[in-house]
Amino acid sequence: MRIHEESLERIDNNQWNVHSAYSESDALELLDRHDYKVGLAHIDFTNPKQVQQTENIIISSHAEWVALLGQQDQLKQEQCKKAILNGFYDYHTLPTQLGILLNTLGHAYGMSTLKKNFADENLCLLNEDEMVGTSPAMRSLFSNIRKLARVDAPVLINGESGTGKELSALAIHERSGRRNAPFVAVNCGALPDKLIQTELFGHEKGAFTGAYQRKIGKIEAASGGTLFLDEIGDLPLEQQTSLLRFLQEKTIERVGSSSSLHVDVRVIAATHVNLEQAIQEGRFREDLYYRLNVVNLVVPPLRERVEDIEVLAKYFFNKFYSEAGNGVIGFSQQALRAMNDYTWPGNVREMINKVRRAMLMCESRLISATDLGLERRSTGKRRILTIDAARSNAEVEAIINSLRQSRNNISQAARTLDVSRVTLYRLMEKHSISI
Ligand SMILES: Nc1ncnc2c1ncn2[C@@H]1O[C@H](COP(=O)(O)OP(=O)(O)OP(=O)(O)O)[C@@H](O)[C@H]1O
Ligand SMILES: [Mg+2]
Repeated sequence: MRIHEESLERIDNNQWNVHSAYSESDALELLDRHDYKVGLAHIDFTNPKQVQQTENIIISSHAEWVALLGQQDQLKQEQCKKAILNGFYDYHTLPTQLGILLNTLGHAYGMSTLKKNFADENLCLLNEDEMVGTSPAMRSLFSNIRKLARVDAPVLINGESGTGKELSALAIHERSGRRNAPFVAVNCGALPDKLIQTELFGHEKGAFTGAYQRKIGKIEAASGGTLFLDEIGDLPLEQQTSLLRFLQEKTIERVGSSSSLHVDVRVIAATHVNLEQAIQEGRFREDLYYRLNVVNLVVPPLRERVEDIEVLAKYFFNKFYSEAGNGVIGFSQQALRAMNDYTWPGNVREMINKVRRAMLMCESRLISATDLGLERRSTGKRRILTIDAARSNAEVEAIINSLRQSRNNISQAARTLDVSRVTLYRLMEKHSISI
């Protein structure tokens, strides 16, 4: 907006790259084309129209704004005070000394960068809707989930307790063509042997004593959608046989019925036990295993993706923030270290519980290791990564930084990394990094 050309030139000569606009539309057009860090507004703050136009411009930018006030007494006006407080990082009253103005602009630049970094970090958190993770292992899991969503094959998910097996199954379903039909989960280990059959296949009225009503089983309830068979390793042998028949024939018979019913469901199963060993020990049918394990997905434990620990902890902190309401604002460095050093036997589920509890129990502004219940159990040693994992992490970090710096300009990022564009594309594919 209005400022002496000559002052602008002097700012321009001081390591700033200045673009000027003399109308709202010019300014909005420039903002469309450039991502400015700092804005300087020289308007008449007593003119409501100009104030409104400037607000529109500020809202459309990610910059920190500095106001140049024409006269000292403008600040006494209510409207001017409000406009400055709402939209500006700082203000100068003209005439001002260039050195001081440059100093303010420098601080505004720093603040703008800080905010941008913070926003970028939070952006990484919300990967794949509710599935959070930035480690190479999770990127690869996300990429596999996307691929598996496109096909209809059965999937067997392996992973330790609390790693996110069910969440992965749900993520596949929600990205698949079946997303508008039900996702039905059955915990095969939670029901007594006798009930599992009717739970899965349903029963007719009068099928046995106490069957007063027809009951639709979980398989039928999932019709058109996805059936998630959790803890499949716990399914009794007898039901394994019935399930195998269903997978082969795509039909079910409700208990007490003599006719069979075609049901179209995709089956995703999960287990935390080693099914191959269960087969060796005669506890699991090998033919069923091959039917279920057409594609295998492994959800890695938290200790193998240390990079995700802090990201997840902060994500859950934000999630439970409104519930805490006791002035807690984040994690202390010592708490973050303790979380990194801990081996998380209960994985993400355990982290949710620990963070939630710590937020409620915390008596200061920052959560400590003690609030998390980690003070004694931590080993004090930093986890040692394999050379391959360390190399892979370093590659991901360098690629993300160079893309960020070059604002996703592949050629420029490749030059910074001293590799060809083809190599950069290959590496991005390898680590599932997309722009
Ligand atoms: N990557 C993730 N991002 C956000 N939340 C997650 C992530 N992984 C797991 N969770 C959360 O952690 C909890 C445990 O996940 P989930 O139930 O999918 O794990 P599981 O492997 O099926 O566990 P279990 O073996 O106990 O059945 C859930 O509340 C889930 O929403
Ligand atoms: Mg589960």
